[in-house]
Amino acid sequence: MTDSLVQSWRQPETGRLLSVTFDWSTLVLWDRLLSAGRPDDPLWADLRAQLGLFPGSDSVGRRMRLLALGRLAGAVMRSGVAGDVAECGCAAAVSTTLIASQLQRGGFAGRLHVFDSFEGLSPPQAEDAVPPDMATPYGHQSNHGTNRRFAVPLDFVRARLQAFPFIDLYQGWIPERFPEVADRRFALVNIDVDLYQPTRDALEFFWPRLSPGGAVFIDDFHIVDWPGATRAVEDFVDGLPSPPAAVLPLALGGIILRKGDA
Ligand SMILES: C[S@@+](CC[C@H](N)C(=O)[O-])C[C@H]1O[C@@H](n2cnc3c(N)ncnc32)[C@H](O)[C@@H]1O
Repeated sequence: MTDSLVQSWRQPETGRLLSVTFDWSTLVLWDRLLSAGRPDDPLWADLRAQLGLFPGSDSVGRRMRLLALGRLAGAVMRSGVAGDVAECGCAAAVSTTLIASQLQRGGFAGRLHVFDSFEGLSPPQAEDAVPPDMATPYGHQSNHGTNRRFAVPLDFVRARLQAFPFIDLYQGWIPERFPEVADRRFALVNIDVDLYQPTRDALEFFWPRLSPGGAVFIDDFHIVDWPGATRAVEDFVDGLPSPPAAVLPLALGGIILRKGDA
């Protein structure tokens, strides 16, 4: 666990970039709050272990989204929704490990299909443009024009996921490799690819293959650095012939779309 955590954001009223440092005692308080007073919760222990490995990608919002995702994986397992699980965008496999741990604990008998370029982000499009007065140090615009942010080598990810024999890794630009799972059904899909095109493509592909009662988690919804992901969710939901049974935006970014029972 890190001793301190710096969080920055652009203040809309003034355009100024603000930073706040959470010291150790504040983080301990967050631990208590986020773990709902249950620091012995195995999901919480998993998350702490992951954050310790990659402290640079830590933030309060990210912790909350990862916890929500882990709890969703557990809930979907317990409710017995049929189907495999998929993830689009795994980077260093922090979210993948959290999902897989929950599935393993629940006696999951399916496959977890993980799609990533393992070469980082694809080129952003017009929908992904962040207004200059809202840009933070974390978005693609801070990447000095290289579009390959979050590139993590496939071998590194494979080694990290050795404990989970039910995971299949698909290297390629989304949606290139989706046809390989076209005949599968899914109970849970995690989409965390930051940009409009792969987020939209993932929704278009997986939603029709989601089992009744299944859920899609989109990590980047309403995150200021990734307006394309928000737009992709809105465009997709607006275009559906019948709306999701539940549309649940989370307080610090991220959204869950749940499919209705048959
Ligand atoms: C923010 S990272 C994912 C973080 C991960 N879910 C976690 O919580 O640790 C975004 C990932 O999306 C992948 N990605 C972005 N655009 C992609 C595309 N068009 N095709 C395939 N992968 C893509 C990147 O390689 C990167 O690994």
